[in-house]
Amino acid sequence: MTIEQAKERIDYLRHELEMHNHRYYVLDAPSISDQDFDLLLRELEDLEKAHPQFFDPLSPTQRVGGSITKDFPTIAHKRPMLSLGNTYSEEELGEFLDRTEKSLGFFPEFVCELKYDGAAISIHYENGQFVRAVTRGDGVQGDEISNNVKTIAAVPMRLQGEGFPDELEVRGEIFMPVNGFQKMNEDRLANGLEPFANPRNSASGSLKMQDSAEVARRPLDCYLYYVLSTTPISKTHWENLEKARSWGFKVPDHNKCRLAINRVEIFEFIHHWDQARHNLPFEVDGVVIKVNEYPLQEELGTTAKSPRWAIAYKYKAEEARTVLEGVRYQVGRTGAITPVAELRPVLLAGTTVKRASLHNADQIAKLDLHLGDWVCVEKGGEIIPKITAVLVEERKPDAEAVIFPVNCPECQTALIREEGEAQHYCPNATACPAQINGRLEHFISRKAMDVEGLGPETIELLVNAGLIHNPADLYELRREDLLQLERTGEKTVDNLLLGLEKSKQQTFERLLFALGIRYVGETVAKKLARHFKNIDRLMVATQEELLAVDEIGLRIAQSVQSYVEREDNVALIRRLVAHGLPMAVEEQEGATEQLKGLTFVVSGTFEHFDRNGIKAEIEKHGGRVASAVSSKTNYVLAGADMGPAKRQKAEKLGVEVLSEEAFLQLIAQP
Ligand code: IVH
Repeated sequence: MTIEQAKERIDYLRHELEMHNHRYYVLDAPSISDQDFDLLLRELEDLEKAHPQFFDPLSPTQRVGGSITKDFPTIAHKRPMLSLGNTYSEEELGEFLDRTEKSLGFFPEFVCELKYDGAAISIHYENGQFVRAVTRGDGVQGDEISNNVKTIAAVPMRLQGEGFPDELEVRGEIFMPVNGFQKMNEDRLANGLEPFANPRNSASGSLKMQDSAEVARRPLDCYLYYVLSTTPISKTHWENLEKARSWGFKVPDHNKCRLAINRVEIFEFIHHWDQARHNLPFEVDGVVIKVNEYPLQEELGTTAKSPRWAIAYKYKAEEARTVLEGVRYQVGRTGAITPVAELRPVLLAGTTVKRASLHNADQIAKLDLHLGDWVCVEKGGEIIPKITAVLVEERKPDAEAVIFPVNCPECQTALIREEGEAQHYCPNATACPAQINGRLEHFISRKAMDVEGLGPETIELLVNAGLIHNPADLYELRREDLLQLERTGEKTVDNLLLGLEKSKQQTFERLLFALGIRYVGETVAKKLARHFKNIDRLMVATQEELLAVDEIGLRIAQSVQSYVEREDNVALIRRLVAHGLPMAVEEQEGATEQLKGLTFVVSGTFEHFDRNGIKAEIEKHGGRVASAVSSKTNYVLAGADMGPAKRQKAEKLGVEVLSEEAFLQLIAQP
C-alpha cells in the first residue's frame, strides 16, 4: 500500500465509522454488526499506527479515550448559559403563557420538549469540526471537558450534510439511560464499590473524571436542545433543531416534542408525559416550553438569570415520607450482607412502597438511621426506592440507633469486611443456610440453568428436608424421596425430574454463571467460556492467562482462582461432570456469524423449515429473532400466507421483506 493509498483508506474508514456511529447511537438503526464495526475500527487503528503523520484528534479511534486530564481548564462562555425559570404549578405555567401573550399582543407558537435530567453541555464546532465542549459551570464560565465528551458516540466529531455555519455552538444534555445506570450500579456493587445515587449524578460525575478511557466505558448519551450561531440559521427554534438533526446531532424525534399553537396543546403534552415518561429509557424531570420564533424570543428578551421566552414545568419529585420500622439484613448467595429498610407502607409514584435499599453499612452510618425515624423515600432510576433523608427533628429522644450486625443474621458467624470493599460478608460459605439456599436458587434460575418445574419454595423444602445441599445433589434426587415431601404429587415430581434432565442440555457458559463464582456474572461467564472452551482448562488457568481475557481484571481472576482452589468446589464440579452437565462449549455444526447484528421477524409457513427450525437457523448464523416488526428489524422473513398486517408494517417502516429462497441464498454466501 502506498502512502497515498493508506491516506485514502484512512479517510474512507474514518468516514464509514462515523457514519456507523451515527446510525447506531443517534438513529438507533445500525446497518452492520458490532463485529464488522470492530473489524473496521481495528483496521483504522493499525493504519493510524503505521502512519502516525495522519493522526487526527477527531478520528473515531480517539473515542475510546485514554487521555488523563488533571485539571480541566476554565473557559468563559461566549454567550452565557442561562438557566430556565421553573414551576411545579399548572397555574403558574398559565400565568407565564398569559404574560407572554400580553407582551406580544398575540399567542405565539411554542415548542414543547422534554426536560432531560443530566448535565448541560455546550459544544463548539468550527467549519463542521468539533473544537471543544464546556460544562455549564456557573453559567458564565465552565470546565473544558472535550476529551470526555469526545467519548460519547452520539456527539458528532464532524458534521454531516451541508448548510452549517462556520461557527456553531450547540447545547444539550448529557445523560445516562436508566438501563445502563442500573447495570453500572450492579457491577459496582458486585465489585464492592459504592453505587451511584441516580442517573443524573452518575452522568455529571462521569463527565468530571480525569481518565477519559473510564468515561468511554460509561453509557452516556446526549440530546441536543439549543442551537446558536453568529450567523442566523433559520427563523425558528424548531427548524434549527431539524437542521441540527440533519447535521448528525441527536435531536428528540417528533413523538417526544411538538409544536403547540394554544394552551390546550401545551397542557396535553404536559399531561401525556407525566405518565408516559416512566416508559422512556432515560429520566425526564419535566417539560420545557419555548417560544418558537427567534424574532419573538428577542422581543421578549431575558432577565439576568433566564429567558422570558421559555419556562420549565417540573414534575413533582416522586418522594414520600414514612416511618422506618426496621432493618433486615439479607444474606446473598456469595455471603454479601445487604441491609434493607422496612418501611410503613406508603404510596409513591403509583405503587405502595414497603422497602428501600440501604446498600451497606456506610450508607446507614451516613444517614445516621434510628428505628422509628421519619424518612424521605424517593424513586430514582432504580426499581427499589431509596432513603434520601431523615427528619431528625421528628426523632424521639430514646430512639435506638441502627447498628450494623457483627454476626451473620442467618448462621451467627462473625462477618468480615475486606479492605477497600463496601460490603460485609459472611465467610461461612459451606454451612450458612442463606448461602446454601441462595446458591441453589441461583443455579436453577432463569438466566442460569433455567430448571423448569423447580422454584425457590421447592428448593427451601428440599434443603430443609436434608435432601440437597449443593447443585450436584439435585441430580441425585430420587423419585421416592421427592414423593415423601409435602405438597408434591406425582405430576410435580415428574416435572421436576424432567426439568433437571433437560437442564443438562444448557450451555457451558450458563453452567459457569450458575456456579455462582463471585464476580462471575453472565457476561464474564460468557467471556471465560469462550476463551477457555472447557472447565478443565479454566481450572488450571494461571492468573496471567485469566488476565489475558478481554475485560477480566485482577479481582475476577483472583476470585476464579480461589474458587477452583477449594476442594469442595472441585468435588462439586467433578460430580456435575459425572451427571452429564455441560462442561465445554459446543461448536454447532455449520454455525457462522453471517447474520450477526441482524434482527429478523419470521412470518408465515416455510418449505424447508418448520417455524422453530427457521428461527434456529437464523440463530445458528448469529442472527436474532424478534416477534414484532419495528424500526430495529432488518428483515422480515416471509413464508407462504404471511399476515398482511406484518407486510404493511414492514413496508411502512421500509424493512426489507425476504423470501425463503432469498434467505437461503443469504446464509449460503461465503
Ligand atoms: S433550554 C436558555 N431545553 O434544564 C434555555 N434546557 O435550567 C436553555 N434542560 O441546565 C435551556 N432539557 O441543561 C432546555 N429541552 C431542554 C432541556 C433543558 C434539560 C436543562 C438544561 C439546564 C436546565 C434549565
